Amino acid sequence: MASDFLANRIADFSDNRPMNIGTATGGTMEEIYRHLVDRAKRSSGLANALGEAQYFAMDEYVGLSGDHPQSYAFFMRERMLRPLGISALNFHLPGEENVAAAPGAGGCISIYDKMMEDAGGIDLQLAGIGENGHLAFNEPGSSRESWTRRVQLTLSTVRANSRFFSHPAEVPREAYSMGIASIMRAESVVLFASGKKKALALERMLRGRPGEDCPASILTLHPNATVFADWEAASRLRVW
Ligand code: GLP
Repeated sequence: MASDFLANRIADFSDNRPMNIGTATGGTMEEIYRHLVDRAKRSSGLANALGEAQYFAMDEYVGLSGDHPQSYAFFMRERMLRPLGISALNFHLPGEENVAAAPGAGGCISIYDKMMEDAGGIDLQLAGIGENGHLAFNEPGSSRESWTRRVQLTLSTVRANSRFFSHPAEVPREAYSMGIASIMRAESVVLFASGKKKALALERMLRGRPGEDCPASILTLHPNATVFADWEAASRLRVW
């Protein structure tokens, strides 16, 4: 269902340039990419569109090389680019070299945000949600005016992400992340939530007042945002 929705969005994109897709990572996204890759293997139209698209990662850990199995560069390469033969040149990541302010752009827009803007802007932004309501690595308290930058991770995020690492000391404490303003600029956003551990965050996102204490809730102010949740993640939203 979610992958049908994405496949249709991607197939329906018509512009004089390739589509720009903002990518998210995490356990939830793993399944979404698996379905998308399966569909693309059966549909040359979708495979061509995905092959031509430009990809802009939402976030990346500080200090992990692209060869580290827990880096988001590795995640995207293994789950999306390689299976579909997509050129690595089409994939962009936030990093130390592009989080500085963009020269001549005025204000605090980063080089990474300027790259997205120069490419025509993000057409389809994919997103997950953290257990504490974070969006990309915009932790609670992140400003809605924030652009791509280097951020500190909260203890709760470090703990949640430690399941992917063999030792807690290996879990990065910092990351590069698109800002909330960067994400709000996208033409459309699709957020995925799965599992019981996301139920409270999803309730706060969709039922609470949009605010910086739950960064994902700011998306409820976006004109074209869609949420897909499984039953467990949606369990606190039931009205019956
Ligand atoms: C990380 C990512 C987020 C993602 C979150 C949820 O913290 N930076 O972008 O939304 O994980 O991941 P999962 O689906 O594994 O719970």
